[in-house]
Amino acid sequence: MTKTSDSRARHVAIIMDGNGRWAQMRGRPRLVGHHMGAKRVKEIVRACPDLGVSHLTIFAFSTENWKRTQTEVAGLMRLFKRYIRREAHDLLAEGVRVRFIGDRVKLEPALVDLMDNLELMTAGNTKVNLTIALNYGGRDEVARAARRLAHDVAAGKLDPRQINDETFPKYLDTYVLPDPDLVVRTSGEARISNFLLWQSAYAEYEFIDTLWPDFTKEVFAGVLDRFGSRERRFGAVPV
Ligand code: IPE
Ligand code: IPE
Ligand code: MG
Repeated sequence: MTKTSDSRARHVAIIMDGNGRWAQMRGRPRLVGHHMGAKRVKEIVRACPDLGVSHLTIFAFSTENWKRTQTEVAGLMRLFKRYIRREAHDLLAEGVRVRFIGDRVKLEPALVDLMDNLELMTAGNTKVNLTIALNYGGRDEVARAARRLAHDVAAGKLDPRQINDETFPKYLDTYVLPDPDLVVRTSGEARISNFLLWQSAYAEYEFIDTLWPDFTKEVFAGVLDRFGSRERRFGAVPV
């Protein structure tokens, strides 16, 4: 198989799925699975520099996840606040720059404040770029981008003739990020559930059976190894 000259995945995006099943298999409430999942995030972020991953984007809460029970949604929101409070110091010290994507309007102000602060606090870091997708949906993101773009057109700041596949993504939440090379989904489900629809047009996908709370750095390294032997063509014919 022909490999591209750089066969390392620099931007990996992960759909962290399977927390609920992990807990249920142990007869525990779903939230226990989410707590274990949050612990895994720490291990995986820490593993990135050694594995050559400069950008890690993780799906924490989708625009569809509001459909879950009030108990689970409230528990997840508490977990996000706790994660930010507890991890901010280590993330800063370990060179991690944190960004959030998704619509913040629907999130409670106390959480949004913590998110804003963490972004500001870590803005000078360069070792790992961690992007957390929270109240994120790919369709919602594209629709919000279209709305902002329409405002710019209406205000005379943008000529419709300038809209193309290079200018449009500047309106997406991910405007400063490279596209993901690899999208991983844990827990055996082979779907993308509204994650990074625009950005993953040419990503490789890896669907693995491991539940997110069991996703160790060794499993992560294995996934990255497999990516290294894939051939990426981007529509061209290999020479
Ligand atoms: C993913 O795990 C985490 C979130 C969606 C917040 P799930 O909660 O979807 O776990 P399963 O799919 O029910 O096992
Ligand atoms: C996708 O997982 C969202 C996150 C991992 C945050 P879900 O478990 O919500 O997706 P579906 O419902 O199985 O498609
Ligand atoms: Mg799920």
